[in-house]
Amino acid sequence: MPENKNTKPESFSATQAWGKLGEESTILILGASGDLTARKLVPALYTLWKTGYLPEKSQIVGVARREKTDETFSKEMHEAVCAASRTGEVTEQSWADFSSRLHYRQVDISDAAQYAKLKESIKELESRCELPGRRIVYMATSPKLFLPAVEALDQADMIPDFEDPNWLRVVFEKPFGHNLESAQELSHSLSRHLHESQIYRIDHYLGKETVQNILLFRFGNAIFEPLLNRNHVNHVQITVAESQGMERGRGGYYDQSGALRDVLQNHVLQLLCLIAMEPPALFRGEEIRDEKLKVLHALRPGNEKDIDQWAIAGQYTAAEHDGEVLTGYRQENRIPEVSKRETYIAIEAYLDNWRWAGVPFYLRTGKRMPARVSEIAIQFKHPPMNLFTTVECDGHMCEMVEAKPNTLVFRIQPHEGIQLTCSSKRPGMQYQIHPVTMDFAFNETFETGLPEAYERLLLDVMRGDSTLFTRSDELEAAWKFVTPILEHLESRKQDPDFYPAGSWGPEDADRLLAKNGYKWRTPSPEPL
Ligand code: BG6
Repeated sequence: MPENKNTKPESFSATQAWGKLGEESTILILGASGDLTARKLVPALYTLWKTGYLPEKSQIVGVARREKTDETFSKEMHEAVCAASRTGEVTEQSWADFSSRLHYRQVDISDAAQYAKLKESIKELESRCELPGRRIVYMATSPKLFLPAVEALDQADMIPDFEDPNWLRVVFEKPFGHNLESAQELSHSLSRHLHESQIYRIDHYLGKETVQNILLFRFGNAIFEPLLNRNHVNHVQITVAESQGMERGRGGYYDQSGALRDVLQNHVLQLLCLIAMEPPALFRGEEIRDEKLKVLHALRPGNEKDIDQWAIAGQYTAAEHDGEVLTGYRQENRIPEVSKRETYIAIEAYLDNWRWAGVPFYLRTGKRMPARVSEIAIQFKHPPMNLFTTVECDGHMCEMVEAKPNTLVFRIQPHEGIQLTCSSKRPGMQYQIHPVTMDFAFNETFETGLPEAYERLLLDVMRGDSTLFTRSDELEAAWKFVTPILEHLESRKQDPDFYPAGSWGPEDADRLLAKNGYKWRTPSPEPL
């Protein structure tokens, strides 16, 4: 008899759904001339097609204002797909096959009057390809167009009832709102046209294999979960560091956004939810999102009067790093010389719930840091007594060495894996302590490379599985926590704390941890 009798039949059905192909549909990408379409969406669709996940008859239609033929669009996308790292060699034959389902329609998506023409053209394509009329609309547009485009789709009678078998699913890129009020307003206005089940809000971090593995690792093993709570964990550090600055003309967008809105409000808080949430009753979309929401609700709203004590905003300045001269933020393209926008943010957060009461969660993200590296590091408490304190002598220097607390690190990227540091006996005639690590590296265990986040997410839209998308209540709870910090930063007169480009952030951020006797880790971008 198997030991575990608690398998829930429903959880099987969810898992089986994830093995499924998507349903045949027409995928409309609104804003197809943008960077996202070329860098992420079409390469992901190509890989899905190549690996047999794109349903045979599905068609992809790029929609944008620029004048372009199907051939020009296909040529541009060919270059983009060849440049993408995961697509491997793109042979003439495979491109010819794939691109036969790639189309372009010239439509000014800000002009509602043009949607009738778009609808006719899509209907004609669907009837030619024997497609039933199920559609995905991917909003790869400026967020300003989210609502007008949905209104125009509705006006053109392109939004079916949410229970119609010929469904419509609309995918929204971030940012979804720029603060609590605007996110609520947008959700409210969209709800006049779309049912919540038709809305897919992307947070591409949730599509990352290593991020999905957090739940599997926590709830698929029996030995770690009992330790992840206030009795054993000293503190947690979540880092999303980027080495890039304002490349690819992003300055205009970024200066309106900043590190808090761009990455912390979404990617970092999602990582926090996954590492801190309770096990869901079922491994199914709604149950998982319910548990994540409880984490966001438990986030203690920091005292608004002393935000500078628990949230540190920084901005990078010009500096030399690794022999390269890096431009300062204020000298970047399309950034005002006096910009106060934060390119770095660190927050000390607490979850007021039974499991995590009193455990600090240090969250940080920034541009122009020394490396692109994201990780969650759980630092456990010290052993209750230092039974093995030893004196180590190196030449003339002798120092006391104590067992270091264990650390469990989820390496989100690069060199994805999980690392557990422990203390071990150094071989010899004495009891000398030596820190060692037990490592799991995805690329050593699995031969297949990791899928790109957008591959998984696009497939889930085709399957109608919204588990890895943000629900409106989650989004609002995240904005609720972040908005007072944003308002404080945007209203204060002083500059952010400056840090040299290529460094780990402003010195002031160290004080967040130092006051509790901790230090930021230096996450390694190197292989294990
Ligand atoms: C995006 C942000 O959501 O995430 C970018 O808008 C950031 O500014 C990017 O660079 C980071 O994603 P990744 O997958 O490269 O870690």
